[in-house]
Amino acid sequence: MAGPLPLGIPWPQDSILVPQSEESSSFHAYVHIPFCEVRCGYCDFNTYTASELPGATRESFHESLIREIEFSSKVLAQSAIPKRPFSSLFFGGGTPSLFEVDQIQAILVALEREHGIERGAEVTLEANPETLSREYLQGLFDAGVNRLSMGAQSFDPVVLSTLERKHDPAKVMEFVAVAKEIGFRTSIDLIFGAPGESMESWANTLLVATSLQTEHISCYSLIVEDGTKLAKQISRGELAEVDEDLNAEKYEMATKVFSDVGLDWYEVSNWGVPSTHNLAYWRSQDWWGFGPGAHSHISGNRFWNRKHPSAYATALEAGSPAQGMEVLDNRTRLEERLLLEMRIKGGVPRSLLNELLVSPKKISERIGSGDLVLLPGDRVGLSEKGRLVADGIVLEFLTD
Ligand SMILES: C[S@@+](CC[C@H](N)C(=O)[O-])C[C@H]1O[C@@H](n2cnc3c(N)ncnc32)[C@H](O)[C@@H]1O
Ligand code: SF4
Repeated sequence: MAGPLPLGIPWPQDSILVPQSEESSSFHAYVHIPFCEVRCGYCDFNTYTASELPGATRESFHESLIREIEFSSKVLAQSAIPKRPFSSLFFGGGTPSLFEVDQIQAILVALEREHGIERGAEVTLEANPETLSREYLQGLFDAGVNRLSMGAQSFDPVVLSTLERKHDPAKVMEFVAVAKEIGFRTSIDLIFGAPGESMESWANTLLVATSLQTEHISCYSLIVEDGTKLAKQISRGELAEVDEDLNAEKYEMATKVFSDVGLDWYEVSNWGVPSTHNLAYWRSQDWWGFGPGAHSHISGNRFWNRKHPSAYATALEAGSPAQGMEVLDNRTRLEERLLLEMRIKGGVPRSLLNELLVSPKKISERIGSGDLVLLPGDRVGLSEKGRLVADGIVLEFLTD
């Protein structure tokens, strides 16, 4: 969801959205909690430590989020967009597990009151292992969170130290077990390609990760984001550059190890029991992103909030937290659909490629080279080899 945002047009003064599509769509909520104890050297997410936010109180920030939930309900009502209960909720960050159970509960109550939450909806919270306790997890579960996504990143202490992660890998093992005992569905996040990470280290991380028997694993190649401490360390020669060839091997190794334990891929970076929430993004469903910097996609309208927590809270008090919006035309909607849907296992219908006037020659060449495969129902999807170059394929299809 992150990435450079277009400048867009101003949020409408009357806060009325004009639906751009008649297609029915499920509805999902992302809630951004922009706080961390410390900033990891590689991370450029919209998150702040206490020293970066003097005066802003984490303890009362849920009140701003609840105000936005009330605002969202008014916007949909006055835009004549039918009310739908949420099919999934996702508390992301930052470090959502720094919020007290009462804060998470108050947000859930507001989401239920203003929009409704489907029975059995997937409710995920991202957690940093060093913030957890059994009591806290039990409290979250009792409040209605039913899926825990833990940031493990690696099980090698040297790699964790390079990434400036503060947790002991043993805590991940401990709290995955506790979470499962309580009844949570569990997932862990891994990062591969940290400077100095050997194939042996990654193989061991995969071994430990799969031994935890979570139902889901997300696995991302380390991105060296401009302006981060990691980028500076690499440019000063203090840390090695990311080795893309080695990373391709690490990705292939992950796929093999995961499939050996029954965790099949369903999206380029995700394996196991598919997350309803993740799939909603890739299938261009409707979602409202609550919180600083969060963006939303409602019936062909995309809008995003002010990034800084104080600016967000102030704008909300004055009416709307939105900083800008974009109304997607038909071509842009189709292009986005290709970009996102190509990443999932079911691929895209050939009719979408035809609508986008993708040259049949380019499609045949990618099938011939083994990057794409034909799937049932006249669909085209990524092969294992193709998953390493997914964005390149889409870019090629969308340029003359
Ligand atoms: C932004 S964090 C939020 C959750 C939690 N604070 C954590 O660190 O696990 C969500 C995930 O984004 C991924 N991530 C953040 N920065 C990244 C980067 N530069 N490259 C690759 N993955 C990154 C990490 O795997 C992390 O688990
Ligand atoms: S804990 Fe997560 S969100 Fe916070 S700085 Fe580290 S990677 Fe980023």
